[in-house]
Amino acid sequence: MDQVLVTGGTGFIGSHTVVELQNAGYEVIIVDNLSNSSIDSISRIERITGIKPHFENLDCLDYVGLDHVFAKYEDIKAIIHFAASKAVGESVQKPILYYRNNVNGLMNIIDLMPLYGIKHLVFSSSCTVYGQPDTLPVTESSPIKPATSPYGNTKQICEEIIRDVVHSGSCDMRSIVLRYFNPIGAHPSGEIGELPVGVPNNLVPYITQTAIGMREELRIFGDDYDTPDGTCIRDYIDVVDLAKAHVVAVKRMLEEKQEEPIEYFNIGTGKGISVLELVHAFEKATGVKVARRVVGRREGDIVKVWADATKANNVLGWHAETPLDETMKNAWKWEQKVHGETEKKKGKE
Ligand code: UD1
Repeated sequence: MDQVLVTGGTGFIGSHTVVELQNAGYEVIIVDNLSNSSIDSISRIERITGIKPHFENLDCLDYVGLDHVFAKYEDIKAIIHFAASKAVGESVQKPILYYRNNVNGLMNIIDLMPLYGIKHLVFSSSCTVYGQPDTLPVTESSPIKPATSPYGNTKQICEEIIRDVVHSGSCDMRSIVLRYFNPIGAHPSGEIGELPVGVPNNLVPYITQTAIGMREELRIFGDDYDTPDGTCIRDYIDVVDLAKAHVVAVKRMLEEKQEEPIEYFNIGTGKGISVLELVHAFEKATGVKVARRVVGRREGDIVKVWADATKANNVLGWHAETPLDETMKNAWKWEQKVHGETEKKKGKE
């Protein structure tokens, strides 16, 4: 069985991807330092798939530790590199942390790959590399704009590092770079989902935590933007659909079907949704009201961005499939489960 090493595999997108990889017949090795995720992900993944993934509690900054993992598993054919810090605001406060984690982590992986004959790397990138695009929807050849945060800059730098290494010919490395739009939702089983530590930065966890009563109200960051209802527009992609894109990418690499040694794909629905539309979609799908108030704009927010995902549709044969109301129901199911478990734990203490 081909082995796939997944860094950050206990996290939000990582855990969903591990499930889909196992469902597709790959043997998965997770490397994660649990800095922003829980060890419970492992048993939850096992409950969904019936298979326990290998797990190595390790930081990608630990070169020697990574070297041991690469040596221990002898059939690693591809690596999916998720492990990274991802809070835009925090990256402005702690840039060194972001450059160290995101850039050095990737460099350790790339440095070790040729030593173990591993050729294939799927990299977790972001639509943030496009900044505020001049024309919408954004295609893979849209210009890369100067980053507006250290987080965004790390994604650009990592893409450049991969490009330079692949083109250097110094090792036989191939890569598929997936540029995600806004991943949301949870697994339909209710077993895995997004588990923000502390107050959530992202919209959907904030909506679900408000709906369940953990937060007083959702603050809508600005309704005076140049959009139909004045709130920002994003392309919200279901996390299971996104996870499946990684499986398709791995398969494409292992079957040597890549047309270029490095390929870039936008992973989104192709549809722009405003903040208010998303709140309405949640309320409609779940029947639960979300208390909300419009406040000032959030610094650094892009006004509108959505994907042209035609390349992923045509070349990868991948499509966003999950309807938004289902995504919202799944996010809600997950929130209820997590909340219920937290309350139960508190009761026992
Ligand atoms: C950003 C990055 C994305 C990155 C992600 C990681 C861009 C375009 N996107 O997503 O690449 O992977 O962070 O965290 O740079 N909002 C509210 N109230 C809230 C929370 C959010 O109104 O409490 C609004 C925001 O203003 C924004 C939208 O909801 O308009 C989505 O915000 P969020 O979920 O934080 O994602 P992005 O900022 O788009």
